[in-house]
Amino acid sequence: MIRHLLRDDDLSPAEQLEILELAARLKADRFADRSLEGPQSVAVIFDKSSTRTRVSFHVAISEMGGNPLIFTTASSQLGGKETASDTARVLERMVEAVVWRTYAQSGLEEMAEGTTIPIINGLSDDFHPCQILADLFTIREHKGGTAGRTLVFLGDGASNLGHSYLLGGALAGMHVRVAAPEGYLPREDVVADATAIAATTGGSITVGSDIAELAAGADVVVTDTWVSMGLEAEKQQRIDALSPYRVTEQVMSYAADDAIFMHCLPADRGYEVDAAVIDGPQSVIWDEAENRLHAQKALLVWLLAKARESAAS
Ligand code: CP
Ligand code: NVA
Repeated sequence: MIRHLLRDDDLSPAEQLEILELAARLKADRFADRSLEGPQSVAVIFDKSSTRTRVSFHVAISEMGGNPLIFTTASSQLGGKETASDTARVLERMVEAVVWRTYAQSGLEEMAEGTTIPIINGLSDDFHPCQILADLFTIREHKGGTAGRTLVFLGDGASNLGHSYLLGGALAGMHVRVAAPEGYLPREDVVADATAIAATTGGSITVGSDIAELAAGADVVVTDTWVSMGLEAEKQQRIDALSPYRVTEQVMSYAADDAIFMHCLPADRGYEVDAAVIDGPQSVIWDEAENRLHAQKALLVWLLAKARESAAS
């Protein structure tokens, strides 16, 4: 069976760990891996804007000897004249994998249905699993591991990041706490899935609105933009609802003394996080951004190896 990464829990805890350990090896010896020599091609398609995802996949594929095909949906037939399914039928004849940043998760599911190559979610409205692999890798670097560590996410708990921290953090054995107001709580089915995973990994899931209580003693404090791509029309109501959940120096004081602050970027200083925090000594955002490169190299190597095993069986 061909393996995809459409949501974080497409990986088992052991598989996620395998990828994170591989990411560390690839970071330590950056130009050693030539897994995509040939060159093998990977298509990376964007319905939404991107800096990190675009550049990190382009560089990852290039540095491993592959051929990155980066294009926007608007400049292709996808979404206009052609379905995700037909696009996949064509691409699988020419490339080894597809990364797609899109809106609805159902589009990714349609693309993955029946295809012979791995499909990777480069961010959807619901999940951002590539980001969470990079973030878990960053937490391992700064905290020596993930299992048993506490991560608190403040803000739009229903965002792709909120959901992916729940699933990815649970897989990594973390205690994941989400602090969000009514109307911005994570989806119940995602909370249920994360809770079930956490029960098998020694982690835990807590969702609530008491910031001081949820941030108390946390090892990692994270947030995300209050206005995710596609939600621009809701900007003012989101600012009004989410303002109490800004990550301030006060919030950081509730966390552990050696807590780190993370943000997937791009960030709106003064909205979801104060400049004093994101530009302060506890912030590890630049390591986090760089780690997109190493984590995605590991993901590609791992998924393409699984695809070869599947083709051989
Ligand atoms: N964090 C992240 O995915 O950034 P981009 O939108 O720049 O790709
Ligand atoms: N939640 C944000 C993440 C950006 C990388 C968005 O979807 O716009």
